[in-house]
Amino acid sequence: MTYLLALDQGTSSSRSIVFDEHGRIVALSQQELPQIFPQPGWVEHDPRVIWHTQLATAAQALAQAGLRAGDIRALGITNQRETTVLWNRATGQPVHHAIVWQDRRAEPLCAQLREQGHGPLIQQKTGLLIDAYFSATKLRWLLDNVPGAREAAERGELAFGTVDSWLIWQLTGGRRHVTDVSNASRTMLLNVHTNQWDDELLELLCIPRALLPEVLPSSGDFGTTDASVLGAPIAIGGVAGDQQAALFGQACFGAGMAKNTYGTGCFMLMHTGDQFQTSHNGLLTTSAAQTGSAPQYALEGSVFVGGAVVQWLRDGLRAIEHSGQVQQLAESVPDSGGVMLVPAFTGLGAPYWKPDARGTITGLTRGSTLAHIARAALESIAYQSAALLTAMGRDAVAAGGHPVSELRVDGGACVNDLLMQFQADLLGIPVVRPACIETTALGAAYLAGLASGVYRSTSEIAQLWQAQRRFEPTMARGQAQALMQRWEHAVAQAALERA
Ligand code: G3P
Repeated sequence: MTYLLALDQGTSSSRSIVFDEHGRIVALSQQELPQIFPQPGWVEHDPRVIWHTQLATAAQALAQAGLRAGDIRALGITNQRETTVLWNRATGQPVHHAIVWQDRRAEPLCAQLREQGHGPLIQQKTGLLIDAYFSATKLRWLLDNVPGAREAAERGELAFGTVDSWLIWQLTGGRRHVTDVSNASRTMLLNVHTNQWDDELLELLCIPRALLPEVLPSSGDFGTTDASVLGAPIAIGGVAGDQQAALFGQACFGAGMAKNTYGTGCFMLMHTGDQFQTSHNGLLTTSAAQTGSAPQYALEGSVFVGGAVVQWLRDGLRAIEHSGQVQQLAESVPDSGGVMLVPAFTGLGAPYWKPDARGTITGLTRGSTLAHIARAALESIAYQSAALLTAMGRDAVAAGGHPVSELRVDGGACVNDLLMQFQADLLGIPVVRPACIETTALGAAYLAGLASGVYRSTSEIAQLWQAQRRFEPTMARGQAQALMQRWEHAVAQAALERA
């Protein structure tokens, strides 16, 4: 048997999974990652803790599988994207905590860039809308605010990286400073047409080129782990940002194929092949994982509060004791009784982009109960995802393509059958849950497997993808459309609830 090891460094945890060559899970280890909130709106991680938790889970997964590092054919890395790390090349020590993708501290600089009219240029080069979400303005904040950082950066003493680069630097004992195109495309510094760092953007943002990692395709030679790290060297063969890795792990390789990941947030990506498509409906254009030098793209919609609404039911409303109880409570009523819940706790992301909107519940009556609210909360995940799919459909048709005909799903909340059925009903297309829902890690393992000859082609990988359950739409389209209208009405109310 051939084994692949995937490191999946996420926002809330570090995980490592050993897969066999058929894409089956052999062992899984996970450690929670502490969140640091220095001020309202700021979110940080300690890069050393990112590294130590990741390394510990890798060693645990190997031990659990009864394997040694030498038994692993190749290693793949997937990671929370945009999160920004700056470290000293000589010591390997970070100069500051990592600034996490959710962190809003760079918003004033973003507002300035928008006011100066740089939006169209940035969207055309990077596919992104100017937002504090991406790495560039976080890096600029570090250079401007960490004493001595700018001077050290200009002397070439510092290195910038997203979490993949940071982990590779540590894994290779500082021998490689690299990233892949999918991660680089989330920095707002990469020209996604050429896969090169863009000098005009670097100048605009005052970022010295000497800081930046080398950009590679997502499958290839990212170096070899230092023998001291896991006991024997392992080739690092695959790297991709977690959402692009999930798209790959779902075997969505062709234009028009789409997946939705139901995690803390929801991230829907539709592959657009080698076509860079600019969204006119509030979506982002991003680089998909690339197995060669030819650019590959996807349209992406990000919902900030997806599964996190269940945490709010548990911790905020105390409607349930643990997250698993939500389905039972929601199922105790036949529908939400007209209640709509818009979880705009931190504003609304795609396709609305309303940073000031706030959470709203509409349609309450004397008969409304906690069960109706729980059902509305669960359904809000599906409504937000349906709005993304509608936006994607519009963009696809405008570009001469077709709307998505089937949605592949993954992430923690996709195990919820009630939610998946409601999702299919709203969308009017089948929602398909694969046998392996750890598609993010699987995508990284596949990319590493391609680089190391375990797989010869993406078609071979596509053969391994298997559906576990298919949810067919059963609701009349008229009813689904009426529900979507009610949802959009509730969103309009939430947008009035300004922060
Ligand atoms: O863009 C942010 C995304 O990559 C974070 O994913 O799964 O770590 O919350 P996750």
